[in-house]
Amino acid sequence: MDFDFKRLIRVIPDFPQPGILFKDITTLLKDGRAFRAAIDALVEAVRPLRPEVIVGPEARGFAIGAPIAYALGVGFVPVRKPGKLPAETVSVTYEKEYGPDDLAVHRDAFPPGTRVLVADDLLATGGTIGATVELVHRLDGEVVGAVFLIELTYLGGRAALEQKIAPAPIVTLIRF
Ligand code: PRP
Repeated sequence: MDFDFKRLIRVIPDFPQPGILFKDITTLLKDGRAFRAAIDALVEAVRPLRPEVIVGPEARGFAIGAPIAYALGVGFVPVRKPGKLPAETVSVTYEKEYGPDDLAVHRDAFPPGTRVLVADDLLATGGTIGATVELVHRLDGEVVGAVFLIELTYLGGRAALEQKIAPAPIVTLIRF
């Protein structure tokens, strides 16, 4: 079954700020056949990378990363905003559009040398996934790839991420 995945992404003008064309994935996620087909396509693309764990940032990264982990039979590690994770964490500060922000991961999330696939719904500037990669590196994980449902090709995120993880590949399903 071939899906027109792009058609299932709802584009909302001027959200959350004037001038932004927001890519709303909820219209794809609520379509069970399309959601399964999208996850299946991403799973088959990343399976050869042989990840041992998937690491994804909140909140929408969970909706993509966790089903990929389930399908591959590997673990899922959540990256969260400060104060959300209950055990000992490591954290990084990164630049978002309107100032700095923090992300954190449990210090015992995976052992050193683990093959990690980072996953999120959207690659835009690459700031969020770059911080996620930094957390993986802080835990001495090996980033074997990055996977996204959507890539905004006009924001330079791919080039920024490649600098951090090359030659590990960047896999995306829908491009705007
Ligand atoms: C969005 C999106 C990605 C990130 C992409 O998350 O889900 O995580 O922005 O943008 P970037 O490549 O420029 O970093 P958001 O910060 O809105 O958090 P949410 O998923 O919790 O809504």
